[in-house]
Amino acid sequence: TPRIFSGIQPSGGLTLGNYLGALKRFVEKQDEGIETIYCLVDMHAITVWQDPEKLRQQTREGAAAFIAAGIDPARSILFNQSQVTAHAELGWIFNCVARMGWMSRMTQFKDKAGKNSENVSLGLFAYPALMAADILAYKATHVPVGEDQKQHLELTRDIAIKFNNDYKVNFFPVTEPVIEGAATRVMSLRDGSKKMSKSDPSDQSRINLTDDADAISAKIRKAKTDPEPLPETLDGLKDRPEARNLVNIYAALSGQSAESVVAEFAGAQFGTFKPRLAELAVAKLSPITTEMNRLMRDPAEIDRILGRGAEQAEAIARPILNDVYDIVGMIRSR
Ligand code: TYM
Repeated sequence: TPRIFSGIQPSGGLTLGNYLGALKRFVEKQDEGIETIYCLVDMHAITVWQDPEKLRQQTREGAAAFIAAGIDPARSILFNQSQVTAHAELGWIFNCVARMGWMSRMTQFKDKAGKNSENVSLGLFAYPALMAADILAYKATHVPVGEDQKQHLELTRDIAIKFNNDYKVNFFPVTEPVIEGAATRVMSLRDGSKKMSKSDPSDQSRINLTDDADAISAKIRKAKTDPEPLPETLDGLKDRPEARNLVNIYAALSGQSAESVVAEFAGAQFGTFKPRLAELAVAKLSPITTEMNRLMRDPAEIDRILGRGAEQAEAIARPILNDVYDIVGMIRSR
């Protein structure tokens, strides 16, 4: 039976990229009736230093975003990673399964470390092994993510396969990435060659889930485009990354394909298209923002939800971890 796991780092406010590439699809999976486990990966967040009070705040805000977007804690398990110690425990074992060479090839590590890799945390290097542990502590079969996580999920498969081979077991499933929809890679509003990111220094480059209607409209109005009108077919967007990005966002928000958006707006100027996109974005995002703000007024309730979720998660992960310790040859005598 399928079991879905996915996670989001509470290392900043969530963006439209997180929403379209991940959160919105997490809700769809839950609503399809699949078993769904969703996690705010606070231990991943500290691979880069986080102010403790902000980290707590952003974790609650992330949880509020999940719930406001439609995650129902009665139907999905929702928790923060550090409350279930199985993640750290399995993460260590996977540090001993994964190879230095595999980790060195991770493009996200290379991008984040830049030229100064002597001075980043060891945790940042080991990050994808902890991510594999997140998934495999539940023997999750499917992981919905945006395009940028594809390589990490291939590594998760490699770790599962190597563990099974090393210990001559058929224990961990080989997890399937689920990268689907019209917006698997939402790009910066200022630069069509960079992905939209919570860590971009320019706030104009992204739409935050906490932005109000005026901010959303202004950012879309000022979004970089080219002077051409929208083409007649999708093919005409090939070398127009900024235009393509806005079409993809429209498609994902309205639940249609990019083809049908282009068909609808064929020949339109951006002066026409952008206000329509802004209107759509506000209509879809404002109710979420409002609900998030309401939920954030009761942080104790959010903490209770995360605590209950962690208990449910623990109940699944602990027996799996016990089996792992047996397989690896650890004495368990207490
Ligand atoms: P994170 O926190 O960077 O992003 C969370 C999710 O949002 C997606 N995403 C995007 N999708 C489309 N366009 C964008 N511009 C965009 N930006 C982000 C990401 O692909 C991701 O699905 N390593 C993960 C967190 C993680 C995880 C896991 C995910 C930890 N353990 C286990 C899945 C399973 C990360 O940093 O995501």
